[in-house]
Amino acid sequence: MANNQVTCYCIILLFIATEIAETSTNNTCQFESKCLCSYTKTNMMKADCAGKSLKTIPKLPVNLKNISLARNLISEIKNGTFEANKHLLYLDLSSNDISELHSRSFQGLSKLETLIISGNRIDPSAICMAVFKPLKALLHLAIRQKFKNPFSLNISALVQLNTLEIDAVSHGMDPFNIEYANLRFLHEVDVSGFPEFEFDVSGLSGYCKMTVLMPNTFKYIPYVKRLDLSKCGINAIVSGTFRGLVHLKYLDLSDNRCLKFKGLANVTYDLPSTSLKVLRINKIHQTFDLNTILTKCMIKPLRNTNITQIYLNSNRLQLFEEGAMDFFPKTLKILSGADNEFSFSGRYTDDLFKLTVHEVNMSYLGMSHFLKNSNENCDHTLITPSRCNYNPKVYKKIAIKTPNLNNDTSYSLLSSFGDDKVLIPYQLRKLHLRECKLRYYLPDITFSNNLLEYADFSSNTFYDWQGPLGNLNQLKFFNLSNNYCSKVSTRFFTGMPNLTTLLVQNNLLGFVLPSDISGKILAPLTKLEVLDLSDNRITSLPSVFFNAQIQLRTLNLSGNLLETATFEIKSMTELSHLDISNNRLFVLDTFFTKQLDHLLETVPDLTVELSGNPIKCSCESIEFIEWLSITKVRVQSLLHQDCRSLQMHLNSSKVIYEYLKKKCSSYTTTIVAVGSWVAIFAFVIIAGIIYRFRWKLRYAYYIVKGKHHGQIKPLKTDDDFQYDAFVSYADEDETFVHRKFLKNLEDDRNIRCCVHKRDFLAGNDIATNITSAIHNSRKTVVILSQHFLQSDWCLFEFNMAKMESIYSRSKENIILLVFLEQIASKDLPLNILELIQSKSYIEYPNDEYGDVVFWDKLKETLSV
Ligand SMILES: *[C@@H]1O[C@H](CO)[C@@H](O)[C@H](O)[C@H]1NC(C)=O
Ligand SMILES: *[C@@H]1O[C@H](CO)[C@@H](O)[C@H](O)[C@H]1NC(C)=O
Ligand SMILES: *[C@@H]1O[C@H](CO)[C@@H](O)[C@H](O)[C@H]1NC(C)=O
Ligand SMILES: *[C@@H]1O[C@H](CO)[C@@H](O)[C@H](O)[C@H]1NC(C)=O
Ligand SMILES: *[C@@H]1O[C@H](CO)[C@@H](O)[C@H](O)[C@H]1NC(C)=O
Ligand SMILES: *[C@@H]1O[C@H](CO)[C@@H](O)[C@H](O)[C@H]1NC(C)=O
Ligand SMILES: *[C@@H]1O[C@H](CO)[C@@H](O)[C@H](O)[C@H]1NC(C)=O
Ligand SMILES: *[C@@H]1O[C@H](CO)[C@@H](O)[C@H](O)[C@H]1NC(C)=O
Ligand SMILES: *[C@@H]1O[C@H](CO)[C@@H](O)[C@H](O)[C@H]1NC(C)=O
Ligand SMILES: *[C@@H]1O[C@H](CO)[C@@H](O)[C@H](O)[C@H]1NC(C)=O
Ligand SMILES: *[C@@H]1O[C@H](CO)[C@@H](O)[C@H](O)[C@H]1NC(C)=O
Repeated sequence: MANNQVTCYCIILLFIATEIAETSTNNTCQFESKCLCSYTKTNMMKADCAGKSLKTIPKLPVNLKNISLARNLISEIKNGTFEANKHLLYLDLSSNDISELHSRSFQGLSKLETLIISGNRIDPSAICMAVFKPLKALLHLAIRQKFKNPFSLNISALVQLNTLEIDAVSHGMDPFNIEYANLRFLHEVDVSGFPEFEFDVSGLSGYCKMTVLMPNTFKYIPYVKRLDLSKCGINAIVSGTFRGLVHLKYLDLSDNRCLKFKGLANVTYDLPSTSLKVLRINKIHQTFDLNTILTKCMIKPLRNTNITQIYLNSNRLQLFEEGAMDFFPKTLKILSGADNEFSFSGRYTDDLFKLTVHEVNMSYLGMSHFLKNSNENCDHTLITPSRCNYNPKVYKKIAIKTPNLNNDTSYSLLSSFGDDKVLIPYQLRKLHLRECKLRYYLPDITFSNNLLEYADFSSNTFYDWQGPLGNLNQLKFFNLSNNYCSKVSTRFFTGMPNLTTLLVQNNLLGFVLPSDISGKILAPLTKLEVLDLSDNRITSLPSVFFNAQIQLRTLNLSGNLLETATFEIKSMTELSHLDISNNRLFVLDTFFTKQLDHLLETVPDLTVELSGNPIKCSCESIEFIEWLSITKVRVQSLLHQDCRSLQMHLNSSKVIYEYLKKKCSSYTTTIVAVGSWVAIFAFVIIAGIIYRFRWKLRYAYYIVKGKHHGQIKPLKTDDDFQYDAFVSYADEDETFVHRKFLKNLEDDRNIRCCVHKRDFLAGNDIATNITSAIHNSRKTVVILSQHFLQSDWCLFEFNMAKMESIYSRSKENIILLVFLEQIASKDLPLNILELIQSKSYIEYPNDEYGDVVFWDKLKETLSV
């Protein structure tokens, strides 16, 4: 059977494929300019006239194969309208204003396979018997009307009919009457509608009111395989209703809110005689009714069916009776119990383990108002004793232990199971636990052996991931987004080595990831391919954070607070999508762009999403803008990215780069200019300082040098000078010094003098000699003449003597000027004038008598 289906689908697919290949482009149709027509190679026409405000059906050409006239204002199908259309296969007349069908309305449609005429106002009682007679080949009929009247339509002529969408109203009348007995191929019947109070005015959703289902309700459609009875206002189903439907594979009783689990028992007891695979009983309970329990009695017969999928969402289901789950058929693959109020406490949770299911949907636990809230008016006269009545007292022992949510650090899923292993169905592959209001921290949990590949724990409050969640070896997909999580331990992911998709967006991981400097948290996830870390308030990521993720393809860091991208990605040789949009990046530095360029070698179509960052276009970011303008990495959404400072779109990065290059070269010149000015300024200052203290520096230098050479010995007492006077003179005045000065002072008056011709040590440099001599003499006598003023050495000696007086003799004046001749004061340097002003000078008289006084005075001055 399954094989047949597959082949069948393949043929259909092939058919569709060739059909598309053959179809030429759209043109306005010749028969009606408002419509669009396309043609196949065999010149067959397909026309689309939907929603064109047509009031009548145009004259249609004979080669028409497929036409939609939906959503127009057509009010009538005249006799013989389709007389020429013997090739038409598909006719859609839904949502028009048709109120009457004449006996020859469909005359000529001998090959028509699909007729959609729902959403009109056809009064069934006015439909003449012969109207469907021409439709010998019809397979699909949709004929829901905008009426709420009970009617039965004589469609017995449609002998090939396979699927039927129709309204069903049973007030004492059977909607599926004896005329259906002819329809041997009727396999799909869809009577689903909206309950009375939610009637959809478009009419397309239909109208269904079948308060009680009886064993004879479906008596004449025994071949049906798929039966949709949802939203039919069913209050009660009498035992035996479905027993005759031996081909039934799919049964939908959803949204019959007066049925309840009590009424369900009469259904389950019929099912073993059907071929049922899919049972849908979502919302067969009132929104504000009491919570419910599924008992063994209700489920028991299911064990003898081959059902693979059971949907019982939105039923305020709180508990399974202990052992009840054992009665689920061994063929069960999908169990959906979403939007209920399951309590994890009862002992039934151990039974879960034995289920053969591959997929469990337990999302939206504790949110029983998920679907439309309005209650249905139940007919209480129909509430009869159920075969599965139960005494609430008997089940009281399965009492509910409410989790102590105040102690949320210790309460965990684990403690609710009271075992060291969490038991999950051994064949379970997919588990949906989305938005369950679970507020736990995730401690060390070991799961029983399992095949779990897909887990959706998103939108809960698993706020602290301690883990490890052990024994999830097959897990490939894990959605932990929206969990307010701000803590992850480095062990958390160690139990899921095969994980390829990890979605942790919208948490608070920015509080913990930046401190994982050795990249331990993600280290176990070496096979990860998709990682979503968006919206996590991450300010920075350690450089080795992603080192283990060498197979990563998609990395989403959007919506964080990253200011720089400093993490390494160069080992992700398969990375094809990097989303760093909506962060706070104003530049990607070369460290990062180099990695991206490097990745291009292995992933030529690498895409980077960069929008929503305050990218700067300035001289600081010129390197990045240049990269942007030449890189082969596909940087997305630059069109929406303004360069803040420039008011330009980043996608014109080449223009921006050229602009910046010009702007910034002058910028560089400015920097160089400013830099040199600063250097010159500093140089001038330093030079000035050196110049200002040039004598002091030279003095200090020569003193040190003199001490080093032993020319200067530390003084024993204040008066212990080697000489009384150092005589500083120009060579031209040598005669005076040697003939007169030394004779008068040294020989006659016993003053020890130092003159460079006689007393300087040979072999030492002259500057050191001078400085040492000045230092070793009590006074320095300057023989001032025009020659002196012109001699550099003499000025050197004078300045050294000044330094000596300032730095070694506590500013005591040690210089004595002897004017050998008259010198005009304008010729004297400032510092000599200074001394003259302090009166430490003597003029040489150059006459016999004056001479004696002069030499005496000199001796006096020199010996103090
Ligand atoms: C023809 O038009 C329809 C709707 O107007 C459009 O969906 C379809 O892609 C068009 N086909 C071609 C081949 O242009
Ligand atoms: C006719 O067109 C409709 C709408 O485009 C499409 O769903 C349908 O499969 C087509 N039927 C045939 C027989 O080509
Ligand atoms: C349609 O044709 C039938 C039989 O041929 C005839 O009885 C009927 O009056 C016609 N209706 C209209 C509106 O022409
Ligand atoms: C329904 O139509 C068939 C012929 O198509 C006819 O034999 C039968 O009597 C009709 N039934 C009713 C109840 O009119
Ligand atoms: C179950 O079916 C029996 C007949 O077999 C009927 O009397 C009873 O009312 C039905 N119960 C419900 C709740 O529909
Ligand atoms: C379920 O399947 C088994 C084996 O295919 C078959 O023998 C049995 O009759 C089926 N039961 C039902 C209720 O269809
Ligand atoms: C789980 O059930 C809910 C409620 O019916 C539904 O909305 C959701 O799509 C289901 N999830 C899956 C993966 O089937
Ligand atoms: C929370 O529960 C644990 C174990 O159940 C217990 O040891 C601890 O004292 C409890 N803390 C508080 C604050 O109740
Ligand atoms: C993960 O969970 C979030 C929140 O429930 C949801 O929006 C998202 O679609 C899920 N992702 C996938 C791939 O299922
Ligand atoms: C999962 O990982 C385990 C251990 O690392 C390995 O033995 C096993 O083959 C993997 N399974 C799959 C499906 O990759
Ligand atoms: C990354 O996450 C953001 C926000 O959740 C989303 O809008 C975006 O599409 C994601 N990007 C990719 C490449 O999946």
